Amino acid sequence: MGITIALDGPAGSGKSTTARKVAERLGYIYIDTGAMYRAVTLAAIRRGIELSNLSLQVLVQSINIQLEQSENGQKTLLDGVDVSREIRMPEVTRLVSEVSATPSVREAMVKEQRRIGKNGSVVMDGRDIGTVVFPNAELKVFMIASISERSQRRAAELQAKGINVSPDSIALELEKRDKLDSNREISPLVQAKDARLLDTSSLSISQQTEMIVGWANEVIGTKVAT
Ligand code: CDP
Repeated sequence: MGITIALDGPAGSGKSTTARKVAERLGYIYIDTGAMYRAVTLAAIRRGIELSNLSLQVLVQSINIQLEQSENGQKTLLDGVDVSREIRMPEVTRLVSEVSATPSVREAMVKEQRRIGKNGSVVMDGRDIGTVVFPNAELKVFMIASISERSQRRAAELQAKGINVSPDSIALELEKRDKLDSNREISPLVQAKDARLLDTSSLSISQQTEMIVGWANEVIGTKVAT
């Protein structure tokens, strides 16, 4: 059985792309947990429900979220329909931190994430993977980057998807979301004590990938030796 790799950090630190590439290199599965919270948020918007703990609890029990591995990365399905593009829309981004701070939503998503990752050989990215979802993960990485770098990356990513938002408004949104994610009561965004810190401000995706694959191979080597 392969190891569990937890990649946490704020938005735009390069987690998702790096996680996908690391998983490819190691032949592991890749799980973008943010996509799950985004899918719940999209469902809440579509049904026009109030963002209370109870309404969201009823909602999460009535929807089906699936993550599928495809050639161009992970596909997110909501009730069987591909919503990979819709979950990146600005209105989802605006509400996702509020939805994901809700206990009933976290409880359901964490349960599902543990189920998907229970066999190891997984790279999971999010905010609370190394602290809450898999506190015993063999490798934990906390990725950070400067706010200007993160907003430029995010603007370019959205542009490639045909969504035009200025880097300045993205910077404001990222800072607001980081604050909400870091200060919430349950599972805040925080570096696990045993996580390695990786500042990606001046690293390319391939450099980041190499660093993490190197660490993973070290950990795998030690595991085999013991
Ligand atoms: O891709 P981006 O970095 O914008 O964020 P994401 O990974 O798609 O996550 C979107 C939001 O979901 C975050 O801002 C958090 O509020 C929430 N989230 C969370 O609470 N716990 C996770 N494990 C992953 C995401």
